[in-house]
Amino acid sequence: MNKSDAERIASVFEDAGLNETKKESEADIVITVACSVRQSGINRIYGKIKEWQDIRAKRPLTTILSGCVLKSDRKKMNKFFDLIFEINDVSKLTDFLETNIASEQKFFQIHPKYDSTFQAYVPISTGCNNFCTYCAVPYTRGREVSRPMDEIITEVQRLIEKDYKEITLLGQNVNSYGNDLKDDTTFTDLIKKIDEIEGTYRVYFYSNHPKDMSDELIEILPKLDHFPHYIHLPLQSGSDKILKSMNRHYTQKQYLELAEKIKKNVPEVAITTDIIVGFPGETEEDFFKTKQIMEKVGFSMPFIAKYSSRPGTVAAKLEDNISKEEKEKRWRELTAIQKEILSRENKKLVGENLMVLIDSEKKDKYYGRTDNYKVVELPKKQTDPIGQFVNVEIIDSEAWILKGKI
Ligand code: 5AD
Ligand code: SF4
Repeated sequence: MNKSDAERIASVFEDAGLNETKKESEADIVITVACSVRQSGINRIYGKIKEWQDIRAKRPLTTILSGCVLKSDRKKMNKFFDLIFEINDVSKLTDFLETNIASEQKFFQIHPKYDSTFQAYVPISTGCNNFCTYCAVPYTRGREVSRPMDEIITEVQRLIEKDYKEITLLGQNVNSYGNDLKDDTTFTDLIKKIDEIEGTYRVYFYSNHPKDMSDELIEILPKLDHFPHYIHLPLQSGSDKILKSMNRHYTQKQYLELAEKIKKNVPEVAITTDIIVGFPGETEEDFFKTKQIMEKVGFSMPFIAKYSSRPGTVAAKLEDNISKEEKEKRWRELTAIQKEILSRENKKLVGENLMVLIDSEKKDKYYGRTDNYKVVELPKKQTDPIGQFVNVEIIDSEAWILKGKI
């Protein structure tokens, strides 16, 4: 989401006649799009502030802050920035840059300066109404607002016309898309409409809430041409006690049933997830339940985070009683379990031919992802396939990577 915001902000800068530099040390203006999900992201900004103060001792430098910032951090950061603006209030930025080009536009209506020529993020909603007790988002982004469907379709159409190969629909809670719209549009309506656009492309969507996963969505997914059989379904914890304390609105049993239903309906589906370890009050027994459900579902990839208390959230009132060392230990344990699951699962892919979108290169290797989001490493050839779909034979596998040849 922050990357996507940055692409729209970059476009406002460009309209104001400013040029981007890839070298931070050369910049006259630096803008930070903050993330408040964990304290580590905010600490990085304090580190940057220190660097900028050193630069400012030698030459002028303008600093701007936007993105997700909690009130308490905003107060502390105020004096270090020349401008702080809410992401939805881009007019503050245009006034500051003395350009009025985008000032009449809503943030979503700005044409982004996409970072890539073949992969693009398209926001479909912003904000969140769920108030998971650990999460900063409802406080930094406000309530959920869905973007009108025709506006999204226009942006996706434009991207496909420009031959973009991969589009990621973004929202804090994509599968509740439309709940705030007057015309009963649902997320399923949106993806069906996108799928009708002709072209060679694939579409992902992030992130889903298990409680908003409709039967309609599960049934339609395998029937679409451009949507890989892939669902990101944040679990957060396997313990009912912790799930309740997190305000997640489902139990371990309900999550498992949902995962089973998805697997039954969507052939060879890849399910990825988010897990938090060390939430206040998480006992060994609670943690054991998370390990159990991980084995049962067999996630294609879990994004495991150590709990970080966010000022102003409901969970911040609970004692952060799991030590740093214990969080680290639990994180390692889950990572080891996952490594074993993936080593086992990935071996089954050796010998298969898979479509891979090549997206980067390093030394003598290309890297890309399969439809179900597995990273593949390929030896470099003379012809340049970056940004292209290629058919790859998987010849070897490790836990975190597949190895193949075109
Ligand atoms: N501490 C740790 N992880 C968090 N996440 C959100 N808030 C926190 C927090 N306070 C994780 C959740 C979410 C993902 C985007 O970030 O797992 O799904
Ligand atoms: Fe945060 Fe996601 Fe929960 Fe919304 S659904 S409060 S964004 S974790």
